[in-house]
Amino acid sequence: MYADLKKGFKIKPDPVILSIESSCDETAAAVVRGGREILSSEIISSCSEHIRFGGVVPEIASRAHTTAVSEVVKRAINASGVDLTDIDAVAVTYGAGLLGALLVGLSYAKALAFSLGVPIIPVSHIRGHLAAAYLADKTLEPPFISLLASGGHTAVIEVKKVDEFRLLGGTLDDAVGEAFDKVARTIGLEYPGGPNIEKLAEEGKNAIALPKMLKGDGGYNFSYSGLKTAVVNYVHNAKQHGQTFSKADVARSFQCSAIDVLVEKSLKACGECKLNTLTVGGGVAANGYLRKRLDEECKKAGIKLVLPPKILCTDNAAMIGAEGFIQYEKGNFADLGLNAKARVDLGQNI
Ligand code: KG4
Ligand code: ZN
Repeated sequence: MYADLKKGFKIKPDPVILSIESSCDETAAAVVRGGREILSSEIISSCSEHIRFGGVVPEIASRAHTTAVSEVVKRAINASGVDLTDIDAVAVTYGAGLLGALLVGLSYAKALAFSLGVPIIPVSHIRGHLAAAYLADKTLEPPFISLLASGGHTAVIEVKKVDEFRLLGGTLDDAVGEAFDKVARTIGLEYPGGPNIEKLAEEGKNAIALPKMLKGDGGYNFSYSGLKTAVVNYVHNAKQHGQTFSKADVARSFQCSAIDVLVEKSLKACGECKLNTLTVGGGVAANGYLRKRLDEECKKAGIKLVLPPKILCTDNAAMIGAEGFIQYEKGNFADLGLNAKARVDLGQNI
């Protein structure tokens, strides 16, 4: 019933892939050649429209995607130096994310791929974050350890092959980015919480005793809900007793607790798996304190650190093009029946 966009395509050696990302509040498009070379990467964000609500409002995000998607693709094509007719495949995030938001990018990608007569590559947003490392270091090859730290995910992963992963541990409750956003709200900072906490933390001291989380417990799991609650309780207690407190100290102390455990477990994974390369992905990997701590510890341990530029850590479409290339080489194409998924497992291709 659906036009068969799955079959009959020849896999080219150095494909030019147009990628589209619309899982949350960024509408993004990129053109990536051979999975490693970014020809263009454009983002239109609806972030400012969500600030007064304190977080992403799915309906507002979906509407913003509908108005931005054509424009962002046009910008990506114009900036890339290639024509639409040079595109060999269209890669698109099909999950995980907000369903309404995903469907906008997905529908656009299907229509475009169909009209160009090229395959659609379904891409997992999570794998996209991991694949950003291939753009940052063009020589990078598995095996390596990857730390995924975003608004929806927190995990330490052994990347055995480009398409084979072993999850060493993940969060038992909140993701680290989610904790940043909730703590930010508690101390009156605007959405998005992560960058605002980081900025305020520069003025503060790591002076407030907060739970050590699962630091030093031997495993690779994380738990952020206890830390978040401890911060909320600290702030509420101070307010109830009419005590003044330093928001900057709260931000700094929280940031140290939240990040130190990520650094510790990532380095431990490298040691235990006997791998001397560590990569990082996800919005929280844009955090300056995390980047500095990883750099220090990796230098000490003789581990090569692949730290994508901040713009490739937060949501973007170039990373979807990088992962799209991996799936393209496997011929993992979708037909027009491809649907959006709110949740996607790491092991899932589609
Ligand atoms: O990867 P991402 O852009 O979207 C998801 O896939 O979730 O991550 C967004 C998360 C948000 O929770 C945001 O507060 C956090 O990343 N984030 C940061 C920083 N920049 C973004 N957290 C800490 N420090 C930052 N500089
Ligand atoms: Zn993301």
